[in-house]
Amino acid sequence: MSDTKIQAAAIDVPIEELIKEFDKDLFALVAKYHSAKIKSTSPVQAMTRGNAYQTIGMREVFLQGFRPADEDIYSGMCMAGQSFVDLGCNLGERTRIAVRNNASFAEGIEYEEFFVGVGALVNIYNKIPRIILRQGDVAQPGCLKSDYDIGACFSAFVYVQKNLEELLGRIKRLFMLETHALKTGWFHHYIATVEPYMPHWIIYDVSGHGGIYENSHRACIAFSRKKNTLLGISPTRSHELGIRNKNIRDIDIKASALFMGMFGESGRNSPQAFQALREELSTLVDPSDDKITACLRATIVELEQDCTPTRKTGFRSDEYWLQLFRGMVEFHTSGEMSLANSYLTYMRSISKRGEYDPGMRRLLLDDSAAADRMRLRIKSFFDILRTGVNSSPIVAFNAISLDCAADCGIDLHPIPAAYIITDKQTRRYFCNWFDGYHRIAALSLSGAKTARCMFSWTNLRPPFLNYDGASNKEELKLSWSDPNVRKVVELTFDQLLCRP
Ligand SMILES: C[S@@+](CC[C@H](N)C(=O)[O-])C[C@H]1O[C@@H](n2cnc3c(N)ncnc32)[C@H](O)[C@@H]1O
Repeated sequence: MSDTKIQAAAIDVPIEELIKEFDKDLFALVAKYHSAKIKSTSPVQAMTRGNAYQTIGMREVFLQGFRPADEDIYSGMCMAGQSFVDLGCNLGERTRIAVRNNASFAEGIEYEEFFVGVGALVNIYNKIPRIILRQGDVAQPGCLKSDYDIGACFSAFVYVQKNLEELLGRIKRLFMLETHALKTGWFHHYIATVEPYMPHWIIYDVSGHGGIYENSHRACIAFSRKKNTLLGISPTRSHELGIRNKNIRDIDIKASALFMGMFGESGRNSPQAFQALREELSTLVDPSDDKITACLRATIVELEQDCTPTRKTGFRSDEYWLQLFRGMVEFHTSGEMSLANSYLTYMRSISKRGEYDPGMRRLLLDDSAAADRMRLRIKSFFDILRTGVNSSPIVAFNAISLDCAADCGIDLHPIPAAYIITDKQTRRYFCNWFDGYHRIAALSLSGAKTARCMFSWTNLRPPFLNYDGASNKEELKLSWSDPNVRKVVELTFDQLLCRP
């Protein structure tokens, strides 16, 4: 066609029409090459990859691949405003998800030029800003030219580990690592390899596999140089994702002494008062906040009439629950969380005296932050009493299967019953570090049979926390680098999350 004819055609077709046609062609092109049967060979270990590995989002349509799309992967990672690099990014789907989670800039590096090209078309089709996908060999020195706040290696460690020190030197805040299909020894293979460069780690999720590895699982691990970076990951995922978390298992409330032992001081009438409340609540027909408030009022009277003085004031004391119940009644009656609310006032006073979680101290000093947090707590307590389910899973850290501990030659006995939780298959776990004690308390009062717990393991604390009566026990000297400890985590992970 001559230049004049091309110009005439361009003028004849309105730009909206051209864009529509362009989008259609782009979609068809991506779909064609996404489903094409090809083999791509990596220079590392001559590994071969087929196409259609990632499921890709094309606006509202998904082109299915071997690995499902997962928009939740960055929950808890504080991605907003962070620069991000995705090592071995394939078609860059997870790089795009980082942008959708407000990364300031996301770069995907992929060895296979063909994947880079198709991924770039997907970026254009979806109009993704602040992103680049480029060809590169992560196993080679000099692959990264700048620093990033967050780096990720999803199922690509075999390549990344060849150049680990240099790559991690460029990743400043957080390194997310998804393992390949788990095999015996994975804990040592991944964690011991990365921790010399980033000493703190948390195993925060489990992910499935597909194709020939259908029955296999992968672990998701985050590493950092600073402890604080990791502390909020699992609690945030619990609140943001709720039951979408994949590492949730049900814990049998009645069979778990810790869950049943939240209420009532010995020597007082309170154990009976709380038991009566539990029975009342679990037999309520159509439970409503009105009916729950009436039950709480009766328990408040019972607790106030107990003449035996209480010597305790902090969390789990009779005084604590009395103040919480008062605060709940006041909140329900007035419909607001005033600064004079009994529970809020009480929380601020025990925090000031150093009798409550030091991590909450700053928040409780701030009027509006304190009122917001206590309002949420009270509302969630009502929700659980009403429904008997916890929409945000309780986070159980560093649980160890008692059977697996015995198999690994770790003698944890005798452990007080209060540190043992039991799953629905009656398998028992030692665990004495949770996030969500109020959810545990509300569930146990509601008469619910099971509690949703999500499981994480982390070296933010030693493997077996001190527990009453065990202060001089040998096992307390165990560290995360002990082969038996690593083995017991692998076995517990497998038992709990891979064979639920
Ligand atoms: C198992 S796939 C994982 C893809 C993606 N990270 C995900 O989880 O969805 C591994 C990817 O790494 C790419 N790859 C292989 N060797 C590489 C290398 N030396 N440098 C960069 N990428 C590589 C492969 O082409 C493939 O796309």
